[in-house]
Amino acid sequence: MTRKMLVTSALPYANGPIHIGHLVEYLQTDIWVRFQKACGNTCFYFCADDTHGTPIMIRAKSEGITPETLIERVHREHYKDFSDFAIAFDNYYTTHSEENRILSERIYNGALEAGSIVKKTIEQAYDDQEKMWLPDRFIKGTCPRCKAENQYGDSCDICAAHYQATELINPVSAVSGHPPVLKESTHYFFRLADFADALKELFAAGYVQSSVRNKLDEWFAAGLKDWDISRDGPYFGFIIPGEDDKYFYVWLDAPIGYMASCWNYCKQNGLDFEKVWNSGEYEIYHFIGKDIMYFHALFWPALLISAKLRRPDKLFVHGFLTVNGQKMSKSKGTFVMARTYLNHLDPQFLRYYYASKLSGDVGDIDLNVDDFVNRVNSDLVGKLANLPSRSGPMLTKTLGGTLGTLDEAGRALIDELVQARGVIVQEYETLNYASVIRRIAALADVCNKYVEDNQPWSLIKTHPEKARTVLTAVLNASRILTIYLKPVLPDFAAKMERFLNIPPLSFADTDTVLENHTINPYERLIERVEKEKVDAMIEDSKQQTAAPVAAAEPSKPTLDEPLAEECTIEDFMKVDLRIAKIASASAVEGADKLLALELDLGGVTRNVFAGIAKAYKPEDLVGRLVVCVANLKPRKMKFGLSEGMVCAAGPGGSDIFLLTPDTGAQPGQRVH
Ligand code: 2FM
Ligand code: ZN
Repeated sequence: MTRKMLVTSALPYANGPIHIGHLVEYLQTDIWVRFQKACGNTCFYFCADDTHGTPIMIRAKSEGITPETLIERVHREHYKDFSDFAIAFDNYYTTHSEENRILSERIYNGALEAGSIVKKTIEQAYDDQEKMWLPDRFIKGTCPRCKAENQYGDSCDICAAHYQATELINPVSAVSGHPPVLKESTHYFFRLADFADALKELFAAGYVQSSVRNKLDEWFAAGLKDWDISRDGPYFGFIIPGEDDKYFYVWLDAPIGYMASCWNYCKQNGLDFEKVWNSGEYEIYHFIGKDIMYFHALFWPALLISAKLRRPDKLFVHGFLTVNGQKMSKSKGTFVMARTYLNHLDPQFLRYYYASKLSGDVGDIDLNVDDFVNRVNSDLVGKLANLPSRSGPMLTKTLGGTLGTLDEAGRALIDELVQARGVIVQEYETLNYASVIRRIAALADVCNKYVEDNQPWSLIKTHPEKARTVLTAVLNASRILTIYLKPVLPDFAAKMERFLNIPPLSFADTDTVLENHTINPYERLIERVEKEKVDAMIEDSKQQTAAPVAAAEPSKPTLDEPLAEECTIEDFMKVDLRIAKIASASAVEGADKLLALELDLGGVTRNVFAGIAKAYKPEDLVGRLVVCVANLKPRKMKFGLSEGMVCAAGPGGSDIFLLTPDTGAQPGQRVH
């Protein structure tokens, strides 16, 4: 019996390019969808750009274009990146669509009728200069706890404290640089707690993997709070029915974008959307990252239930990507954009590698660069592609390119491969691709041993028909392995299909063999990964100053922040910059972003706390020359007195770069 399903990946925010961290999810989903299709199931893969909200509005403004123009451009870029990684959506739409507006209103009205929308007047930060309301991430100021300056309105990057924007000391708007004012406004809230019982039932029915159930219990224990679903204008989004200048919050209409993409597809393909989404005929699955679980596990099903619409069957939640065991980092060149990767490497390598690491749980997956090169070269190229690449040319050059029939040994080999089908199908179904890949590599070992044992290159000289029989077994074995690999490597499979001169393969084709069949000349299936190309990609990524990629909300302003108050050349000349040598460096207990530095300014010693702990290890800094603001008024910090500042720049976190003086510079020397 075949199944019908709707599958989605989270909608990427239209605020920046796709990077290799995003690709974990899209590749995980694409492999699953391709697997379902290869099993003969009807499986639609829907996605869209997530296009609304303050960051998009501000970014467009800073680029001097309309939000509509910005999101169209980003849509094209995202779609091209995905397509080049062979991510095959059935529809890639946008949340800024008529379908989404209609559905958002319908769901809102449903919740309203159910009595689950309430109005409340709240106080919020407002930028009087720019005439706009400020999300927490667009307010900056001094941390109320550690007094670090220039921190966001919701949390401090230095001491990790979480607080209300109203608690910031000397807050300023990140848009205008002026202090925000507090203003009252009426907002619409969705009463999540009304759905506590329905949600509990949903979780009991297996809505999320068991490994993330605990998180949901924690949220329940903390109490389900009312959710503010409105934002005052100016805002880029859908206006709330009956309002002049109030909009749906981007996170309300974002998941509705899944439905809108589905509806748009149905319209184009003569399907009845109401039936497809609501009748229960289709299973509905969302693939998401663990960071957006709250929205998908609580708000989204509750909204659908309130509007009497069908809610999804299950969330598949995955972890984040680390590279070489660490967070992706721009300074290390490991924050690799999809396009940068494509400029250097074959997308199939990443598909194969991610598949080999994904096991269906919420743990983070690590891309270790050396392991990436080894695994692709030894398993994919050395074991899997090796089989047809050695056998194909022998058959086509010397034996007329025609397969013979299988003998007993060949049949036994094929039977062994076919027997693995059940477990491979089960592993794909449960997202345990790592196990699938291990199993396929082990089967390839069996096949390579068969080749070594039978030596077709010798047989061909003495017993050409025996060689044909052996090669028939090897190429049939390659065909079965290709079926198993096809969801992961569709391009590899397409080349094999051309070479074997057969129509597209599916899992059902493991039931048949190719005998007395003429194949085409062999074409190379895949090249080896060259380490130099990986290095060049990393170097390229280091050079890039791509706009940071931000989630819809919370998100950091991704644009150039507004200029601080004007400073004259006279003001600037007051800054006394000196070469300093780092005499010692150590971590600061209780502040994971700070390092305590002892600076030698040529006889004078200064103790400075620098927010560079995420970018530099203390032991790497000792003896290094830096540039220091030597006449900065000493500042009392929670951890002690800071008597200067080292010059460094960068977006923050692990991407901070110390200014490096010439090695001949002397401590104490003035820098102009
Ligand atoms: O976190 C993000 O980047 C969001 N744009 C994901 C939205 S998923 C869905 F709800 F639309
Ligand atoms: Zn702080």
